[in-house]
Amino acid sequence: MIQIENLTKKFGNAISLDAINLKIQSGDCVALMGPNGAGKTTLIRLILGYYHPTNGQVLINGKNPIKERVDVLQNISFVPQLPPPIKLSLEELIAYVCKSTQVQKEKILHFAQEMELDIEPNLKKSFFKLSGGMKQKMLIAISLARRGEIIIYDEPTANLDPKARDNFHRLLQTQNHPNISLFVTHRIDEMRDIVNRQIYMDLGKIINDEKI
Ligand SMILES: Nc1ncnc2c1ncn2[C@@H]1O[C@H](COP(=O)(O)OP(=O)(O)O)[C@@H](O)[C@H]1O
Ligand SMILES: [Mg+2]
Repeated sequence: MIQIENLTKKFGNAISLDAINLKIQSGDCVALMGPNGAGKTTLIRLILGYYHPTNGQVLINGKNPIKERVDVLQNISFVPQLPPPIKLSLEELIAYVCKSTQVQKEKILHFAQEMELDIEPNLKKSFFKLSGGMKQKMLIAISLARRGEIIIYDEPTANLDPKARDNFHRLLQTQNHPNISLFVTHRIDEMRDIVNRQIYMDLGKIINDEKI
């Protein structure tokens, strides 16, 4: 369970999250929506223990994501809004993921193929040098292979063409659902069949939260 209590995040004097209360329970598959600057990515970064709260707290299965970061992150598969500048080659990245998370290489290759990412000719290429769409496909393939207890996607299809978006949604629908899924999305029409809860944020607050 993700438990968020009175969570506030300020950068200088600007309030990015304003005293948010939220419980995401096992079985929840959430579309998190709202305009740019609403605070969606900030909320996710706090859930991942990437930022310290200005006030309030986040607990993941009762654990503090800053103090017990390694434990907490073990259960979370995360695809960020902007791919990180990883210098490793695809080969090295896959080896690293397999070693650090006990995922099978074959699974990553399988999902890469499902996402129509041609890995073989790019194995020696730095992740950093791939196109935006290829990076996103690679991160999605890793996240699907890993399938943590909690999956969090921050606008995972923003860099994808329509075909790749279709592939991604098809894969989500055919997978067993993880305990908790959280998708930041601007495309609720695409996610309606997948999610069962819709949360709308604006100006650092939750404006609407409903089961669908
Ligand atoms: N690291 C940061 N430093 C300063 N301001 C930030 C930082 N991260 C986010 N913000 C500000 O917080 C607000 C919410 O941003 P963000 O969480 O990225 O919104 P969203 O993901 O909903 O588009 C914005 O006004 C943004 O400028
Ligand atoms: Mg964002």
